[in-house]
Amino acid sequence: MTLPNRRSFLSTTTSTAAAIGVTASTAKSYGRVIGANDRLGVGVIGGGVIGNAHFDVINKLKESNNLLPVAVSDCWMTRAEAGKRKIGADAAYSEYKRLIDRKEIDYVVVATPEHWHWTMTIDAMDAGKAVYCEKPLTHTIPEAQAVVKKQKETGKPLQVGVQAMSDDSYITARDAIRKGVIGKVIQAQIEYVRRYDSKKGPWREPELVAQHATKPADLDWNAWLGSAKKTDWNPNHYFEWRCYSAYSGGICTDLFIHRITRIMKACDLLYPRRVVGMGGIWQWPDGRDLPDNIEMICEYPRGMTVYVLGTMSNRVGIDHLIRGYRGTLKFTKTGWVAEDKDGKILAEHTKTGGEDQNLHHTNLHNHIRNGETLNCPVELGLAGVVAVNMANESWRSSKMIGWDKVNEKMVPADTLHLSHEPEV
Ligand SMILES: NC(=O)c1ccc[n+]([C@@H]2O[C@H](COP(=O)([O-])OP(=O)(O)OC[C@H]3O[C@@H](n4cnc5c(N)ncnc54)[C@H](O)[C@@H]3O)[C@@H](O)[C@H]2O)c1
Repeated sequence: MTLPNRRSFLSTTTSTAAAIGVTASTAKSYGRVIGANDRLGVGVIGGGVIGNAHFDVINKLKESNNLLPVAVSDCWMTRAEAGKRKIGADAAYSEYKRLIDRKEIDYVVVATPEHWHWTMTIDAMDAGKAVYCEKPLTHTIPEAQAVVKKQKETGKPLQVGVQAMSDDSYITARDAIRKGVIGKVIQAQIEYVRRYDSKKGPWREPELVAQHATKPADLDWNAWLGSAKKTDWNPNHYFEWRCYSAYSGGICTDLFIHRITRIMKACDLLYPRRVVGMGGIWQWPDGRDLPDNIEMICEYPRGMTVYVLGTMSNRVGIDHLIRGYRGTLKFTKTGWVAEDKDGKILAEHTKTGGEDQNLHHTNLHNHIRNGETLNCPVELGLAGVVAVNMANESWRSSKMIGWDKVNEKMVPADTLHLSHEPEV
Protein backbone atom coordinates (compact mmCIF):
# COMPACT_ATOMS: atom_id res chain seq x y z
CA MET A 1 0.00 0.00 0.00
CA THR A 2 1.39 3.42 -0.90
CA LEU A 3 0.82 6.57 1.09
CA PRO A 4 -1.33 9.33 -0.41
CA ASN A 5 -0.06 12.33 -2.22
CA ARG A 6 -0.09 15.11 0.36
CA ARG A 7 -2.00 17.54 -1.87
CA SER A 8 -4.75 15.04 -2.61
CA PHE A 9 -4.95 14.39 1.11
CA LEU A 10 -5.33 18.07 1.86
CA SER A 11 -8.11 18.46 -0.65
CA THR A 12 -10.20 15.74 0.94
CA THR A 13 -9.82 16.44 4.63
CA THR A 14 -11.07 19.09 6.96
CA SER A 15 -8.59 20.81 9.18
CA THR A 16 -10.59 22.91 11.56
CA ALA A 17 -11.48 22.22 15.15
CA ALA A 18 -15.11 22.38 14.12
CA ALA A 19 -14.59 19.09 12.33
CA ILE A 20 -14.31 17.29 15.65
CA GLY A 21 -17.47 15.39 16.35
CA VAL A 22 -18.65 15.53 12.77
CA THR A 23 -17.95 12.98 10.08
CA ALA A 24 -19.19 12.82 6.54
CA SER A 25 -20.60 9.37 7.13
CA THR A 26 -24.12 8.79 8.33
CA ALA A 27 -26.39 5.80 8.29
CA LYS A 28 -27.54 6.98 4.85
CA SER A 29 -24.11 6.70 3.21
CA TYR A 30 -23.45 3.24 4.60
CA GLY A 31 -23.14 0.51 1.89
CA ARG A 32 -25.70 -2.01 3.08
CA VAL A 33 -28.83 -0.16 4.09
CA ILE A 34 -29.09 -0.94 7.77
CA GLY A 35 -32.37 -0.28 9.50
CA ALA A 36 -32.72 0.59 13.15
CA ASN A 37 -33.74 -2.98 13.97
CA ASP A 38 -31.34 -4.86 11.70
CA ARG A 39 -28.75 -7.18 13.15
CA LEU A 40 -25.13 -6.04 12.78
CA GLY A 41 -22.59 -8.65 11.70
CA VAL A 42 -19.23 -8.23 13.43
CA GLY A 43 -15.73 -9.59 12.83
CA VAL A 44 -12.67 -9.11 15.01
CA ILE A 45 -9.09 -8.99 13.75
CA GLY A 46 -6.61 -9.70 16.56
CA GLY A 47 -7.35 -12.07 19.41
CA GLY A 48 -4.74 -10.84 21.89
CA VAL A 49 -5.22 -8.84 25.08
CA ILE A 50 -7.64 -6.19 23.86
CA GLY A 51 -9.18 -8.54 21.29
CA ASN A 52 -10.38 -10.58 24.26
CA ALA A 53 -11.88 -7.47 25.83
CA HIS A 54 -13.76 -6.92 22.55
CA PHE A 55 -14.98 -10.52 22.65
CA ASP A 56 -16.41 -9.79 26.11
CA VAL A 57 -18.12 -6.67 24.76
CA ILE A 58 -19.64 -8.62 21.88
CA ASN A 59 -20.92 -11.31 24.24
CA LYS A 60 -22.36 -8.72 26.57
CA LEU A 61 -24.07 -6.68 23.83
CA LYS A 62 -25.04 -9.54 21.50
CA GLU A 63 -28.69 -9.59 22.57
CA SER A 64 -29.30 -5.99 23.62
CA ASN A 65 -27.59 -4.50 20.56
CA ASN A 66 -28.63 -7.22 18.10
CA LEU A 67 -25.17 -8.37 17.00
CA LEU A 68 -24.18 -11.38 14.93
CA PRO A 69 -20.61 -12.59 15.64
CA VAL A 70 -19.38 -13.81 12.27
CA ALA A 71 -15.63 -14.39 12.34
CA VAL A 72 -12.33 -13.88 14.15
CA SER A 73 -8.95 -13.52 12.50
CA ASP A 74 -5.55 -13.85 14.07
CA CYS A 75 -2.30 -14.76 12.39
CA TRP A 76 -1.78 -17.07 15.37
CA MET A 77 -4.49 -19.63 14.59
CA THR A 78 -4.72 -20.82 18.20
CA ARG A 79 -5.91 -17.32 19.13
CA ALA A 80 -8.29 -17.09 16.18
CA GLU A 81 -9.89 -20.42 17.12
CA ALA A 82 -10.15 -19.41 20.78
CA GLY A 83 -11.83 -16.15 19.79
CA LYS A 84 -14.23 -17.94 17.49
CA ARG A 85 -15.28 -20.24 20.33
CA LYS A 86 -15.54 -17.38 22.81
CA ILE A 87 -18.02 -15.32 20.79
CA GLY A 88 -19.72 -18.18 18.97
CA ALA A 89 -18.58 -17.04 15.52
CA ASP A 90 -18.75 -19.44 12.60
CA ALA A 91 -15.21 -18.96 11.28
CA ALA A 92 -11.60 -18.45 12.35
CA TYR A 93 -9.07 -17.22 9.82
CA SER A 94 -5.35 -16.71 9.80
CA GLU A 95 -5.60 -14.22 6.91
CA TYR A 96 -7.58 -11.15 7.86
CA LYS A 97 -8.64 -10.52 4.25
CA ARG A 98 -10.82 -13.62 4.39
CA LEU A 99 -12.69 -12.07 7.29
CA ILE A 100 -13.07 -8.78 5.47
CA ASP A 101 -14.49 -10.64 2.47
CA ARG A 102 -17.39 -12.00 4.51
CA LYS A 103 -20.59 -10.34 3.30
CA GLU A 104 -22.39 -10.89 6.60
CA ILE A 105 -19.93 -8.61 8.39
CA ASP A 106 -21.06 -5.00 8.76
CA TYR A 107 -18.28 -3.83 11.03
CA VAL A 108 -14.74 -4.93 11.68
CA VAL A 109 -12.86 -4.48 14.95
CA VAL A 110 -9.13 -3.91 14.37
CA ALA A 111 -7.29 -5.05 17.52
CA THR A 112 -3.79 -5.70 16.21
CA PRO A 113 -0.51 -3.88 17.00
CA GLU A 114 -0.21 -0.30 15.77
CA HIS A 115 1.77 -0.98 12.61
CA TRP A 116 -1.15 -2.93 11.11
CA HIS A 117 -3.98 -0.47 11.89
CA TRP A 118 -3.94 1.62 8.73
CA THR A 119 -3.76 -1.26 6.25
CA MET A 120 -6.53 -3.26 7.90
CA THR A 121 -8.76 -0.22 8.40
CA ILE A 122 -8.37 0.88 4.80
CA ASP A 123 -8.92 -2.65 3.48
CA ALA A 124 -12.06 -2.97 5.60
CA MET A 125 -13.48 0.36 4.41
CA ASP A 126 -12.65 -0.58 0.80
CA ALA A 127 -14.69 -3.73 1.35
CA GLY A 128 -17.66 -1.64 2.46
CA LYS A 129 -17.30 -2.25 6.19
CA ALA A 130 -17.57 0.09 9.13
CA VAL A 131 -14.57 -0.08 11.47
CA TYR A 132 -13.85 0.11 15.17
CA CYS A 133 -10.08 0.67 15.12
CA GLU A 134 -8.17 0.40 18.36
CA LYS A 135 -6.11 3.37 19.45
CA PRO A 136 -3.88 4.88 18.25
CA LEU A 137 -5.65 5.30 14.91
CA THR A 138 -2.31 4.45 13.26
CA HIS A 139 1.39 4.14 14.00
CA THR A 140 2.49 7.16 11.92
CA ILE A 141 1.04 10.49 10.80
CA PRO A 142 1.04 9.74 7.02
CA GLU A 143 -0.78 6.47 7.74
CA ALA A 144 -3.45 8.32 9.74
CA GLN A 145 -3.79 10.86 6.91
CA ALA A 146 -4.31 7.98 4.47
CA VAL A 147 -7.05 6.56 6.70
CA VAL A 148 -8.80 9.94 6.91
CA LYS A 149 -8.65 10.25 3.14
CA LYS A 150 -10.14 6.79 2.68
CA GLN A 151 -12.86 7.47 5.24
CA LYS A 152 -13.83 10.66 3.39
CA GLU A 153 -13.85 8.83 0.04
CA THR A 154 -15.91 5.89 1.21
CA GLY A 155 -18.01 7.56 3.90
CA LYS A 156 -17.67 4.40 6.00
CA PRO A 157 -18.25 4.80 9.73
CA LEU A 158 -15.00 4.69 11.69
CA GLN A 159 -14.84 4.74 15.46
CA VAL A 160 -11.35 5.24 16.95
CA GLY A 161 -10.89 3.13 20.07
CA VAL A 162 -10.25 5.85 22.63
CA GLN A 163 -13.13 4.60 24.73
CA ALA A 164 -13.01 7.48 27.24
CA MET A 165 -14.61 9.55 24.50
CA SER A 166 -17.84 7.73 25.40
CA ASP A 167 -17.59 9.16 28.92
CA ASP A 168 -19.72 12.29 28.63
CA SER A 169 -17.38 14.26 30.92
CA TYR A 170 -15.38 15.56 27.97
CA ILE A 171 -18.18 16.65 25.67
CA THR A 172 -19.98 18.36 28.58
CA ALA A 173 -16.74 20.05 29.62
CA ARG A 174 -16.38 21.25 26.03
CA ASP A 175 -19.87 22.73 26.09
CA ALA A 176 -19.16 24.53 29.38
CA ILE A 177 -15.84 25.85 28.12
CA ARG A 178 -17.47 27.03 24.89
CA LYS A 179 -20.00 28.92 27.00
CA GLY A 180 -17.14 30.66 28.80
CA VAL A 181 -17.67 29.07 32.23
CA ILE A 182 -13.93 29.16 33.03
CA GLY A 183 -13.11 32.10 30.76
CA LYS A 184 -10.21 32.09 28.36
CA VAL A 185 -8.48 28.72 28.54
CA ILE A 186 -4.71 28.91 28.75
CA GLN A 187 -3.40 25.64 30.13
CA ALA A 188 -4.30 22.02 30.85
CA GLN A 189 -2.55 19.20 32.64
CA ILE A 190 -3.16 15.48 32.60
CA GLU A 191 -1.10 12.37 33.30
CA TYR A 192 -0.52 8.68 32.77
CA VAL A 193 1.51 7.15 35.57
CA ARG A 194 2.39 3.56 36.40
CA ARG A 195 5.04 1.81 38.46
CA TYR A 196 6.53 -1.28 36.87
CA ASP A 197 8.45 -4.07 38.58
CA SER A 198 12.15 -3.18 38.90
CA LYS A 199 13.20 -6.36 37.06
CA LYS A 200 10.47 -6.21 34.43
CA GLY A 201 10.05 -2.80 32.83
CA PRO A 202 7.08 -1.52 30.85
CA TRP A 203 5.46 -4.18 28.69
CA ARG A 204 8.07 -6.87 29.25
CA GLU A 205 6.65 -10.41 29.35
CA PRO A 206 9.61 -12.65 30.26
CA GLU A 207 7.48 -15.73 30.96
CA LEU A 208 5.70 -15.57 27.60
CA VAL A 209 8.95 -14.88 25.79
CA ALA A 210 10.66 -17.87 27.47
CA GLN A 211 7.72 -20.17 26.73
CA HIS A 212 7.80 -19.24 23.05
CA ALA A 213 11.51 -19.32 22.27
CA THR A 214 10.43 -21.42 19.29
CA LYS A 215 7.69 -19.96 17.11
CA PRO A 216 4.32 -21.67 17.48
CA ALA A 217 3.75 -23.77 14.36
CA ASP A 218 0.39 -22.13 13.62
CA LEU A 219 1.62 -18.54 13.93
CA ASP A 220 2.29 -16.75 10.63
CA TRP A 221 5.23 -14.56 11.64
CA ASN A 222 5.55 -12.83 8.25
CA ALA A 223 1.89 -11.85 8.44
CA TRP A 224 2.47 -10.36 11.91
CA LEU A 225 5.48 -8.36 10.62
CA GLY A 226 3.46 -7.01 7.70
CA SER A 227 5.22 -3.98 6.21
CA ALA A 228 7.81 -3.91 9.03
CA LYS A 229 11.38 -5.06 8.34
CA LYS A 230 11.60 -8.83 7.89
CA THR A 231 13.32 -10.56 10.79
CA ASP A 232 13.53 -14.09 12.11
CA TRP A 233 11.00 -15.11 14.76
CA ASN A 234 11.46 -12.84 17.74
CA PRO A 235 9.22 -13.48 20.77
CA ASN A 236 10.27 -10.16 22.30
CA HIS A 237 8.87 -8.37 19.28
CA TYR A 238 5.72 -10.48 19.22
CA PHE A 239 4.81 -10.18 22.91
CA GLU A 240 6.52 -6.88 23.77
CA TRP A 241 5.94 -4.88 20.57
CA ARG A 242 5.28 -1.67 22.53
CA CYS A 243 9.02 -1.51 23.33
CA TYR A 244 10.02 -1.18 19.64
CA SER A 245 9.53 1.75 17.30
CA ALA A 246 9.05 -0.52 14.27
CA TYR A 247 5.62 -1.43 15.63
CA SER A 248 4.69 1.20 18.23
CA GLY A 249 5.30 4.68 19.58
CA GLY A 250 5.51 3.34 23.14
CA ILE A 251 4.22 5.45 26.00
CA CYS A 252 3.19 8.35 23.74
CA THR A 253 1.08 6.40 21.26
CA ASP A 254 -0.07 3.69 23.65
CA LEU A 255 -0.93 5.69 26.78
CA PHE A 256 -0.75 9.44 26.18
CA ILE A 257 -3.17 9.08 23.28
CA HIS A 258 -5.87 8.22 25.83
CA ARG A 259 -5.12 11.38 27.80
CA ILE A 260 -4.39 14.03 25.19
CA THR A 261 -7.58 13.07 23.33
CA ARG A 262 -9.61 13.96 26.43
CA ILE A 263 -8.16 17.45 26.58
CA MET A 264 -8.45 17.88 22.82
CA LYS A 265 -12.15 17.03 22.98
CA ALA A 266 -12.84 19.26 25.99
CA CYS A 267 -10.89 22.23 24.58
CA ASP A 268 -11.82 21.91 20.87
CA LEU A 269 -8.22 21.30 19.87
CA LEU A 270 -6.91 19.78 16.66
CA TYR A 271 -3.25 20.03 15.57
CA PRO A 272 -0.67 21.43 17.98
CA ARG A 273 1.60 24.27 16.87
CA ARG A 274 4.72 23.13 18.71
CA VAL A 275 5.47 20.01 20.75
CA VAL A 276 8.27 18.95 23.06
CA GLY A 277 8.80 15.40 24.30
CA MET A 278 11.38 14.71 26.98
CA GLY A 279 12.34 11.49 28.62
CA GLY A 280 14.72 8.59 28.24
CA ILE A 281 15.48 4.94 28.59
CA TRP A 282 16.39 5.63 32.19
CA GLN A 283 15.37 2.70 34.29
CA TRP A 284 15.11 -0.28 31.94
CA PRO A 285 17.89 -0.10 29.29
CA ASP A 286 16.96 -3.61 28.19
CA GLY A 287 17.13 -3.37 24.42
CA ARG A 288 14.01 -1.24 23.94
CA ASP A 289 14.38 1.71 21.53
CA LEU A 290 11.53 3.80 22.97
CA PRO A 291 11.59 5.75 26.23
CA ASP A 292 10.58 4.01 29.45
CA ASN A 293 9.74 7.44 30.92
CA ILE A 294 8.59 10.42 28.88
CA GLU A 295 6.52 13.61 29.24
CA MET A 296 5.18 15.97 26.64
CA ILE A 297 4.07 19.57 26.29
CA CYS A 298 1.92 20.61 23.35
CA GLU A 299 1.25 24.21 22.42
CA TYR A 300 -1.96 24.85 20.45
CA PRO A 301 -2.61 27.73 18.03
CA ARG A 302 -5.53 29.08 20.07
CA GLY A 303 -2.87 30.03 22.65
CA MET A 304 -2.71 27.30 25.27
CA THR A 305 -0.43 24.51 26.39
CA VAL A 306 -1.24 20.95 27.43
CA TYR A 307 1.18 19.21 29.75
CA VAL A 308 1.09 15.42 29.90
CA LEU A 309 3.00 14.05 32.87
CA GLY A 310 4.21 10.52 32.33
CA THR A 311 6.24 8.09 34.31
CA MET A 312 6.39 4.32 34.45
CA SER A 313 8.48 4.41 37.65
CA ASN A 314 6.15 6.11 40.13
CA ARG A 315 2.41 6.04 40.25
CA VAL A 316 1.77 9.33 42.03
CA GLY A 317 -0.28 11.33 39.56
CA ILE A 318 -1.54 14.88 39.30
CA ASP A 319 -5.06 16.29 38.96
CA HIS A 320 -6.54 16.41 35.46
CA LEU A 321 -7.20 20.14 35.09
CA ILE A 322 -8.09 22.75 32.53
CA ARG A 323 -7.08 26.24 33.62
CA GLY A 324 -8.98 29.30 32.43
CA TYR A 325 -8.66 32.96 33.35
CA ARG A 326 -11.99 32.90 35.20
CA GLY A 327 -11.73 29.46 36.78
CA THR A 328 -10.39 25.90 36.73
CA LEU A 329 -12.17 22.79 35.52
CA LYS A 330 -11.13 19.64 37.33
CA PHE A 331 -12.01 16.13 36.17
CA THR A 332 -12.98 13.88 39.06
CA LYS A 333 -13.95 10.23 39.44
CA THR A 334 -17.59 11.22 39.09
CA GLY A 335 -17.40 13.90 36.39
CA TRP A 336 -16.03 17.42 36.67
CA VAL A 337 -16.30 20.57 38.71
CA ALA A 338 -15.38 24.13 37.70
CA GLU A 339 -14.40 26.59 40.43
CA ASP A 340 -13.30 30.21 40.43
CA LYS A 341 -10.10 31.43 42.10
CA ASP A 342 -11.84 31.56 45.51
CA GLY A 343 -13.25 28.05 45.29
CA LYS A 344 -16.78 29.11 44.35
CA ILE A 345 -18.40 26.48 42.14
CA LEU A 346 -19.12 27.86 38.68
CA ALA A 347 -20.55 24.64 37.22
CA GLU A 348 -20.34 20.89 37.71
CA HIS A 349 -21.29 17.69 35.96
CA THR A 350 -21.94 14.13 37.09
CA LYS A 351 -20.95 11.78 34.34
CA THR A 352 -23.08 9.04 32.88
CA GLY A 353 -21.08 5.93 32.03
CA GLY A 354 -17.31 6.11 31.92
CA GLU A 355 -14.25 4.91 30.01
CA ASP A 356 -16.22 1.96 28.73
CA GLN A 357 -15.77 -0.10 25.56
CA ASN A 358 -19.41 -1.23 25.74
CA LEU A 359 -20.55 2.37 25.42
CA HIS A 360 -18.03 3.03 22.70
CA HIS A 361 -19.23 0.07 20.61
CA THR A 362 -22.85 1.04 21.26
CA ASN A 363 -22.11 4.54 20.00
CA LEU A 364 -20.80 3.01 16.75
CA HIS A 365 -23.90 0.79 16.49
CA ASN A 366 -26.15 3.82 16.95
CA HIS A 367 -24.10 5.76 14.40
CA ILE A 368 -24.47 2.99 11.83
CA ARG A 369 -28.17 2.50 12.49
CA ASN A 370 -29.38 6.03 13.24
CA GLY A 371 -26.58 8.44 12.39
CA GLU A 372 -25.78 9.27 16.05
CA THR A 373 -22.63 11.41 16.22
CA LEU A 374 -19.50 9.32 16.71
CA ASN A 375 -17.73 9.95 19.99
CA CYS A 376 -14.23 9.46 18.56
CA PRO A 377 -14.30 10.28 14.85
CA VAL A 378 -11.39 9.90 12.51
CA GLU A 379 -10.40 13.59 12.61
CA LEU A 380 -9.88 13.36 16.36
CA GLY A 381 -7.97 10.11 15.85
CA LEU A 382 -5.63 11.77 13.36
CA ALA A 383 -5.07 14.85 15.53
CA GLY A 384 -4.13 12.60 18.46
CA VAL A 385 -1.67 10.68 16.31
CA VAL A 386 -0.13 13.99 15.21
CA ALA A 387 0.44 15.20 18.80
CA VAL A 388 1.96 11.99 20.13
CA ASN A 389 4.16 11.45 17.09
CA MET A 390 5.45 15.01 17.38
CA ALA A 391 6.37 14.29 21.02
CA ASN A 392 8.24 11.13 20.06
CA GLU A 393 10.02 12.93 17.23
CA SER A 394 11.04 15.71 19.62
CA TRP A 395 12.45 13.10 22.00
CA ARG A 396 14.27 11.28 19.19
CA SER A 397 15.75 14.39 17.59
CA SER A 398 16.30 16.54 20.71
CA LYS A 399 14.37 19.30 18.93
CA MET A 400 11.15 21.21 19.42
CA ILE A 401 8.81 19.98 16.67
CA GLY A 402 6.40 22.23 14.77
CA TRP A 403 3.34 21.46 12.69
CA ASP A 404 3.70 22.61 9.09
CA LYS A 405 0.09 23.49 8.27
CA VAL A 406 0.73 23.99 4.58
CA ASN A 407 2.31 20.62 3.95
CA GLU A 408 0.50 18.88 6.81
CA LYS A 409 3.60 17.33 8.34
CA MET A 410 5.85 17.67 11.37
CA VAL A 411 9.17 19.46 10.97
CA PRO A 412 11.71 21.02 13.36
CA ALA A 413 9.89 24.06 14.78
CA ASP A 414 12.76 26.43 14.04
CA THR A 415 12.31 25.85 10.29
CA LEU A 416 8.82 27.40 10.45
CA HIS A 417 7.90 31.01 11.16
CA LEU A 418 5.50 30.20 13.96
CA SER A 419 3.62 32.89 15.80
CA HIS A 420 3.70 33.33 19.55
CA GLU A 421 0.20 34.82 19.53
CA PRO A 422 -3.21 33.14 19.33
CA GLU A 423 -4.16 32.26 15.76
CA VAL A 424 -7.79 31.35 16.31
N1 LIG B 1 -8.35 0.84 24.23
C1 LIG B 1 -7.59 0.31 25.17
O1 LIG B 1 -7.74 0.59 26.37
C2 LIG B 1 -6.50 -0.64 24.77
C3 LIG B 1 -5.90 -1.49 25.70
C4 LIG B 1 -4.93 -2.39 25.25
C5 LIG B 1 -4.57 -2.41 23.90
N2 LIG B 1 -5.13 -1.54 23.04
C6 LIG B 1 -4.75 -1.51 21.63
O2 LIG B 1 -5.19 -2.70 20.99
C7 LIG B 1 -4.25 -3.10 19.99
C8 LIG B 1 -3.79 -4.51 20.29
O3 LIG B 1 -3.15 -4.54 21.54
P1 LIG B 1 -3.01 -5.92 22.35
O4 LIG B 1 -2.48 -5.56 23.68
O5 LIG B 1 -4.28 -6.68 22.28
O6 LIG B 1 -1.89 -6.67 21.48
P2 LIG B 1 -1.61 -8.22 21.44
O7 LIG B 1 -0.23 -8.39 20.92
O8 LIG B 1 -1.98 -8.84 22.75
O9 LIG B 1 -2.67 -8.76 20.36
C9 LIG B 1 -2.58 -8.43 19.01
C10 LIG B 1 -3.04 -9.63 18.19
O10 LIG B 1 -3.04 -9.26 16.81
C11 LIG B 1 -2.62 -10.39 16.06
N3 LIG B 1 -2.14 -9.96 14.75
C12 LIG B 1 -1.02 -9.26 14.45
N4 LIG B 1 -0.89 -9.13 13.14
C13 LIG B 1 -1.96 -9.76 12.58
C14 LIG B 1 -2.35 -9.98 11.23
N5 LIG B 1 -1.64 -9.53 10.19
N6 LIG B 1 -3.50 -10.67 11.02
C15 LIG B 1 -4.24 -11.15 12.06
N7 LIG B 1 -3.88 -10.98 13.35
C16 LIG B 1 -2.76 -10.29 13.60
C17 LIG B 1 -1.52 -11.00 16.92
O11 LIG B 1 -1.23 -12.32 16.57
C18 LIG B 1 -2.10 -10.83 18.32
O12 LIG B 1 -2.83 -11.97 18.72
C19 LIG B 1 -3.14 -2.05 20.02
O13 LIG B 1 -3.40 -1.05 19.08
C20 LIG B 1 -3.25 -1.46 21.41
O14 LIG B 1 -2.78 -0.13 21.48
C21 LIG B 1 -6.11 -0.68 23.44
